[in-house]
Amino acid sequence: METVKVNASKKYDVIIGCDTSALVGKKVKELSPNGKVCVVTDDNVAALHLDSIRDRLKESKIKHEVFVFRHGEQSKSPKVLFELLEFLANKHFNRTDVLIALGGGVTGDLTGLAAAMYMRGMYLVQMPTTLLAMVDSSVGGKTAVNLEAGKNLAGVFNQPDLVLCDTRMLGTLPREIFCDGMAEVIKYGVIADRRLFELVRDGGAIINLEKVIARCVSIKRDIVNEDEYDNGKRQLLNFGHTLAHSLEKLSNYEISHGSAVAMGMLMIAEIAWKNKYSTERCQDEIIDALLENGLPISCPYEPSELYYNAVGDKKCTAGLITIIIPERIGRCRRLELSLDEFRELLKSN
Ligand code: GLY
Repeated sequence: METVKVNASKKYDVIIGCDTSALVGKKVKELSPNGKVCVVTDDNVAALHLDSIRDRLKESKIKHEVFVFRHGEQSKSPKVLFELLEFLANKHFNRTDVLIALGGGVTGDLTGLAAAMYMRGMYLVQMPTTLLAMVDSSVGGKTAVNLEAGKNLAGVFNQPDLVLCDTRMLGTLPREIFCDGMAEVIKYGVIADRRLFELVRDGGAIINLEKVIARCVSIKRDIVNEDEYDNGKRQLLNFGHTLAHSLEKLSNYEISHGSAVAMGMLMIAEIAWKNKYSTERCQDEIIDALLENGLPISCPYEPSELYYNAVGDKKCTAGLITIIIPERIGRCRRLELSLDEFRELLKSN
């Protein structure tokens, strides 16, 4: 078992290992000795993991309710968020109670936002069930729902009180959802750690999963500790994401987040090389890493379509957009461009 300690506006542990779910009752009691719990999860995850989590809460004599919503990005919406808040009110939850987000990125983001909003804040435990949520979305406190205009446009920073990554849960993931998470692992390699990148590119991540997750979380922890509110260094974590959010929206969320990040990283690496922003040609190695991990390497949309949707993203302010450019594998930097420069850059791909 590995524990990564986050020291942001809130201090909390990310505990990673096989069967860390067994700790849930004890840890909830430590947070809120007399509190009750609402487990928030989607219908897919409920079928796989809800009973065992409920059994663990029962063993610790913790009263709990369950809020189950339909799986999929379409549920990351103001509508489902307010259904959850109404549910909490109808069941008389209060601010000393605990929300448990049991699921992937949609569940974590939605529940994290509800935990910040309900009575202006209640305890939040993230129990990510996908690789993507373990290495990225459950840690660092970004919460949001999507608006019609784009992804993650309504949200707040709300750090969890605890993250329990139970690697046993990864065993039930469909292959394409597991691969989705590998896109984020590759991202960490490109922005901060060549050795991690090489391990993943060469197919070694799967046998070192606990260590790989802990390494990704440590990289994210270091960045979040330095720039929790995304004003500078944290933007490095958005490598590939500006185009990814645009791709997801264009496809009406048919393209998964991980696949979109894969395409976004590759396009930016190609653009960076063509325009002499990179000191090293990264795109061939990125292609190898994506293919090794079952991720796509071609994009079905034109640069003009990507541009139009990207400029509505949060990464775009006052006519400027910040993109993350790989200088070489293991090192990225921020590049601020005017929208015209960005459009020209996209066309160069
Ligand atoms: N997923 C990017 C971040 O947490 O900043």
